[in-house]
Amino acid sequence: MEPVSTASERDDRKSAALAARHFEADVEAEVVRQFALGRSVLRTVGMRQAGIGAEQIKVGNPDQMSVFFLDGDAHKRRRSAIARFFTPKAIATRYRPVMDRVTQRLIDDLVATGRARIDEISFELSVEVAAQIIGLTNSNQKAMGERIRRTLDAGGGTYRVGKLRAMLGFSVAAFHAVQFATFDVLPAVLARRRSRQDDVISHMLDERYSIKALLIECLTYGAAGMVTTREFITMAAWHLLEKDSLRAHFLASDEAGQVTLLEEILRLEPIAGLLQRRAGGDVDGRLCPGRLYAIDVRAANTDPAATGPCPHAIDPDRTEGMKGGAAGLSFGDGAHRCPGAQVALQESRLFLDQLLRVPGLRLAKAPEMRWRSDLMSYELRDMVVTCAAR
Ligand code: HEM
Repeated sequence: MEPVSTASERDDRKSAALAARHFEADVEAEVVRQFALGRSVLRTVGMRQAGIGAEQIKVGNPDQMSVFFLDGDAHKRRRSAIARFFTPKAIATRYRPVMDRVTQRLIDDLVATGRARIDEISFELSVEVAAQIIGLTNSNQKAMGERIRRTLDAGGGTYRVGKLRAMLGFSVAAFHAVQFATFDVLPAVLARRRSRQDDVISHMLDERYSIKALLIECLTYGAAGMVTTREFITMAAWHLLEKDSLRAHFLASDEAGQVTLLEEILRLEPIAGLLQRRAGGDVDGRLCPGRLYAIDVRAANTDPAATGPCPHAIDPDRTEGMKGGAAGLSFGDGAHRCPGAQVALQESRLFLDQLLRVPGLRLAKAPEMRWRSDLMSYELRDMVVTCAAR
């Protein structure tokens, strides 16, 4: 196998320059760029979620609030309640068949037509897999993905400049959210009222969530699980298609090796670039009660104290030297660490393995990259691959 060179000056990041232009933490926040301090902020008991507008949203009944916005005991209880949806057994027995089936369909279509947009087909995959976990399985999955995308896009970065545009964005998002509630959430709820399943919606019905709370949780999973995974698969495909040595390494590796390489790419290209926490009154050690901490995930993930040498190069053999996991803080850490990390890595690995083995596959068009300010994240669009059509 061709070795992958790791010259110390090499910088393999694609999203870094765009992120550097747009990264913006709250003005009052202390920005954390060191890996060890960032991890300690996320792990310290008594820190409260302050990302993605959490401090404005956290009002009302915690029983009806999305897991993302909960803190302390209420958060701990919710995480234990949903843990069973993310076990290795659940991934192997319930989601793996969906990953295999959808991947096969998408690759067959690519081979039949000779062309595909990676950002579109990776979204189809991530929507169907996350839908299985949530229990959104009683409507057309492609149309549902589109409704979720429209809701999140309208509420997100595009309309955020200026008051009028923000209000317009809110109204458009509300319109699409109603469509999503009517055509996707409601049929799923009715089906589960008749017969409970082992999924998040059935759990929420047992806990007597209101329809509004149910909708918000479904959209949280939509943003947290579907959008993130699409961006990640597209970014990883871009790196692997552009660099022959990296692709050869991926295809020659076993399952664990493939996952490690994907984590290394995610370390350098985090989807969630900013994680925020407010210190409660009872935190101790190096953290200051009441202070807002903004973790710059890109900086923390390339902190040489954690990564070892050549922090900006993709190095499939870095794991030995990397403190705290190969993906750095790209899946977060501590109480809110992403419960879907293994799902995302498995579906990405399976899909990319199949994709990169398609005979004659080549990158026909690199994606356009733009910024999404609500998630402090890049978006990749219109990435085209071709192969010899059957
Ligand atoms: C490459 C794909 C993914 C990335 C990069 C990612 C990243 C993250 C990060 C950084 C957090 C922590 C946020 C914080 O601490 O403030 C998080 C939380 C979360 N993720 Fe993921 N995620 C991915 C895929 C998924 C999937 C597939 C699911 C489920 C279907 C999922 C569900 C969630 C949920 C429910 C939370 C909130 C957990 C809590 O607050 O306790 N994620 N994710």
